[in-house]
Amino acid sequence: MKVTWVLPGGEDVVADVAAGLNLMEAAQNNNVAGIQGECGGSLSCATCHVHVAEDWRDKAGEKGEFEEAMLEMADGDVSDASRLSCQIVMSDDLDGIRLTVPT
Ligand code: FES
Repeated sequence: MKVTWVLPGGEDVVADVAAGLNLMEAAQNNNVAGIQGECGGSLSCATCHVHVAEDWRDKAGEKGEFEEAMLEMADGDVSDASRLSCQIVMSDDLDGIRLTVPT
């Protein structure tokens, strides 16, 4: 299944991601610049902040309560599109998802 990250410079990173992997781990595995994932996915760093393309927001799901609180501390432009990518788990429904690394 494919995931595309759009980097702040406009360049795309496209990778095959297996179901069950969260999208922060997938970004680390593919050296996506700007996604650090310092807390290892335990919802306590906000360094995995991404913007989810509008067409994919429903499928990616709602932000959780703690996720919302952590996003308030995230670097980069926080908007309705913002998610913490460690909280999005790859599944068949997300094949083709596009994420932007916020500036
Ligand atoms: S990796 Fe720390 S909140 Fe996502």
